[in-house]
Amino acid sequence: MVLLGIESTAHTASVGIVDDTARVLSIASDMYRPVAGGIHPREAANHHVDLLPELVTRALETAKVSPREIEGVAFAQGPGLGPCLRAGATVARTLALLWDRPLVPVNHCVAHVEIARVLSGLDDPILLYASGGNTQVIVYGGGRYRVLGETLDVGIGNFLDKLWIALGGTFPGGPALEAEAKKGTELHPLPYSVHGMDVAFSGMLTATIALSGDGVPRPDLAYSVESTAYGMLVEITERALAHRRRTDVVLGGGVACNERLRSMVREMVEGRGGRSYAPPKSLCVDNGAMIAWAGHLALRAGRSVPVEESAVLPRQRTDLVPTPWRTELPA
Ligand code: ATP
Ligand code: FE2
Repeated sequence: MVLLGIESTAHTASVGIVDDTARVLSIASDMYRPVAGGIHPREAANHHVDLLPELVTRALETAKVSPREIEGVAFAQGPGLGPCLRAGATVARTLALLWDRPLVPVNHCVAHVEIARVLSGLDDPILLYASGGNTQVIVYGGGRYRVLGETLDVGIGNFLDKLWIALGGTFPGGPALEAEAKKGTELHPLPYSVHGMDVAFSGMLTATIALSGDGVPRPDLAYSVESTAYGMLVEITERALAHRRRTDVVLGGGVACNERLRSMVREMVEGRGGRSYAPPKSLCVDNGAMIAWAGHLALRAGRSVPVEESAVLPRQRTDLVPTPWRTELPA
């Protein structure tokens, strides 16, 4: 079964095609980059409307499949920015009607988790989902992905992006900050904000900007921020492993591209005798292939919707989405 998936929750417009073994046949993406500051939802949506038709064509060409071979059209139903979600959903509805194929709504967060999980080959890991808008430690149980811990303010990626812009850079901040951090040598203490299973970043944002005003070099700031922020994520992930008696961790989301985060998680997990896995970077950041794969799982479990019931859900939470394709493992 070959599915086409459309991602358009925020900055990225992307179309991906996967087969029923989760082999990625193609990804065609284009990112809206604000001229200055953060995302403007309407402008981002216009970008997606303009780009998605040619991304569909490109994805089909690269995958070398014809529309006749596409067995379902999946789209990100939420969470995300309303205008951006509607742009992707409109294209998905059009294709489903045109090709007479089932329309499959997908939760964006569950898609990050499922593509990482299938590629990992690990059955029941703890999932660390770290992206722009989300920072969650997730475990599966009782028919849902349960959020054990999460950010109490902004997502870690949004924090990195905001910080980088405040330090004179441009969006996206995460990869640039990673390059800068590699040149850092001196660790400066920053607010380490872990509250039980939750984390917060706004104190660190304020403190880092203040240190920058005091003349601390940017590489040292980046190094200190990465060490502190990723240390917080490692702590709550380790607590989840201990309490849920799990051994393995799978990373997902754009921030999971980060080499320091990957190696800090790996060190913690291997120290406990488990395994950790992070997907290739092209599948950590927002992409249509993860939507297609989650759509494949949902369709195989009989979940598709008529156009009239395909409204987007900008605030849809990870733990509200039924996952009928997963079977319960013993606790
Ligand atoms: P979500 O809706 O899942 O929150 P998103 O819109 O944030 O998705 P993603 O592509 O999942 O999109 O994540 C983008 C984030 O990942 C950005 O904040 C970006 O700075 C961050 N990021 C990308 N590469 C790296 C990296 N190498 N190190 C740290 N952060 C990174
Ligand atoms: Fe994402």
